[in-house]
Amino acid sequence: MTTLKASTGSPYARILSVGSAVPSRVLDNEYMCQFIDSSDEWITQRTGIRERRWLAEGESLESLCLDAATTAIARAGLTASEIDAVLVSTVSWYHQTPALAPSLATRLGITDAAAYDISAACAGFCYGLAQAEALVRAGQARHVLVIGAETLSQMTDITDRATAFLFADGAGAVVVGPSQTNGIGPVVWGSDGEQTDAIWQTNDWKHAVEQGTWPSLGMNGRAVFKWATSFIAGAASTCLERSGITPEELDVFIPHQANNRITDTLLRYLKLPEKVVVARTIQHYGNNSAASIPIAMDALLSSGEAKSGQTALMIGFGAGLVYAGQVVTLP
Ligand SMILES: CC(C)(COP(=O)(O)OP(=O)(O)OC[C@H]1O[C@@H](n2cnc3c(N)ncnc32)[C@H](O)[C@@H]1OP(=O)(O)O)[C@@H](O)C(=O)NCCC(=O)NCCS
Repeated sequence: MTTLKASTGSPYARILSVGSAVPSRVLDNEYMCQFIDSSDEWITQRTGIRERRWLAEGESLESLCLDAATTAIARAGLTASEIDAVLVSTVSWYHQTPALAPSLATRLGITDAAAYDISAACAGFCYGLAQAEALVRAGQARHVLVIGAETLSQMTDITDRATAFLFADGAGAVVVGPSQTNGIGPVVWGSDGEQTDAIWQTNDWKHAVEQGTWPSLGMNGRAVFKWATSFIAGAASTCLERSGITPEELDVFIPHQANNRITDTLLRYLKLPEKVVVARTIQHYGNNSAASIPIAMDALLSSGEAKSGQTALMIGFGAGLVYAGQVVTLP
């Protein structure tokens, strides 16, 4: 039998840089209450959201991705030609095929890179990061651009009291590359197809066309809340264990920005010490799904609340249901 050569990569991988972009249009809770029977007080108390960003005229999923990715590549000190794989985590791209990643790569000046989209909803960024880490360590790619991006405003029924106040738009990107020390801990991930109807697209594309109704996102808020504050809390704890990190050794906590009350419950469960910096970008950006974790990472680093080299726990969870999390060293 002929023996085939195997690729060999770097002993470890790490996040080299982060960049993000949000739309310019700011919608506060008062604005949303024109369309739903709600109040600024209710939305703020139940979710922590005070305002969100929705696409303005001239902005798009692609333009947000381009802005976030351009910043991340520049901050990594790389040129586009040094990126060999582009992973875009999104559920907002309107085309069944081709994926967004190949055209985005070309527009960024990245040539002949592996490029594909990942559909893992609010866990999408952590799914992409897990794949990027594995690609670099296996020698399948040297520098991987991972983008989490959503324009959920385009799939939100502004008159739906269960979701209108929650979802939003944005993009975050990181470059993952080789490292002599480990900067990305083992991923903890999984799914529960029994709960497919916890968050769903109200109408598949075939029926949407037949019925002439644009699909939107439906959500059973209570079911999601219960799952996130029980099962996901345990998964977050497993992330720490698998990376050999105690809560005392953690510097930063970046949960998916689903809801501040979910974040509060995770904090209590994990017994994280007071000194741990906690991402709360949901307040100004709403829940922008796959984009929320890299946007929060960029915001904490830019404001100086978090520092390069610190240890951060990230956990994403959402429609599927799916989840993924890992402990990382901040770029
Ligand atoms: C969405 C969520 C905030 C709703 O809160 P809730 O307490 O579960 O809401 P319920 O549907 O049980 O309704 C409770 C009360 O609030 C009211 N209510 C529901 N939606 C409302 C709204 N938009 N504005 C004002 N009141 C509302 C209900 O009428 C009900 O009132 P009542 O007690 O007088 O009957 C909450 O379920 C949640 O945070 N879920 C997680 C969602 C999430 O994170 N999704 C993203 C995952 S990626």
